[in-house]
Amino acid sequence: MPVLRNDTLSQRNLALTPELHTYLLAQGRMTPDPLLAELIERTRETVPDQAHMTVAPEEGALLTFLVRLLGAVRVVEVGTFTGYSSLCLARGLPVGGSLTTCDVSAEWTALAREFWARADVADRIELRLGPALDTLRALPAGPHLDLAFIDADKPGYIGYWEELVPRMRPGALLLVDNTLFSGEVIDEHPGEKAAAVHAFNEHARRDDRVELIMLPVADGLTMARRLPSGEIAA
Ligand SMILES: C[S@@+](CC[C@H](N)C(=O)[O-])C[C@H]1O[C@@H](n2cnc3c(N)ncnc32)[C@H](O)[C@@H]1O
Repeated sequence: MPVLRNDTLSQRNLALTPELHTYLLAQGRMTPDPLLAELIERTRETVPDQAHMTVAPEEGALLTFLVRLLGAVRVVEVGTFTGYSSLCLARGLPVGGSLTTCDVSAEWTALAREFWARADVADRIELRLGPALDTLRALPAGPHLDLAFIDADKPGYIGYWEELVPRMRPGALLLVDNTLFSGEVIDEHPGEKAAAVHAFNEHARRDDRVELIMLPVADGLTMARRLPSGEIAA
């Protein structure tokens, strides 16, 4: 990996205190609305030990924003859980748009289905239960997707990426969550999941089919634009 001297870089990287986070959400108009707030609460009650898996409110707002910005019509998500990010993605879709979302848990996604219905977006979401790799492999092979969001088991990331990149139309956006993995990606002896995320980061960084950036949003968000054939990544 290229080495940069950290003292030559801007030091304006903020650690968000809870108070500053609240301010950010309010000023950025990203505070969860009552339905999303209820979904967060129900997730905490139903699966208390896994509730941290829900994307952060600012990330959910960013997903809606990006779907709208791109005018995305065909969207895929890997990792539904209780449906927070799917709801945010679906809210950005135009009439006729569709989101295919994959998970293995019928139990967790039952809560998702309830909230999609209440948010009036159930008609544009298709949930496919089963290993995501099988679901992705069953999608049409050609470039037809406008946006994809990967947020599932970390050792699966490279496989999901490899199935998705050829299916993204030129200019489409691939988003990958948790790519800083609580900072553990730079540990000398990372845990299994952090090591898998680091391996994914290295894999994606070398992929010249995309232009890629990584942002310190929530737990780290990688954004990759699928290049038209012939365009070279900067
Ligand atoms: C981090 S959570 C997703 C959180 C979700 N995006 C949200 O904002 O609520 C990861 C999800 O991936 C699912 N998952 C794990 N392994 C999977 C696999 N092989 N195929 C499909 N889904 C998988 C888990 O069941 C879990 O619901």
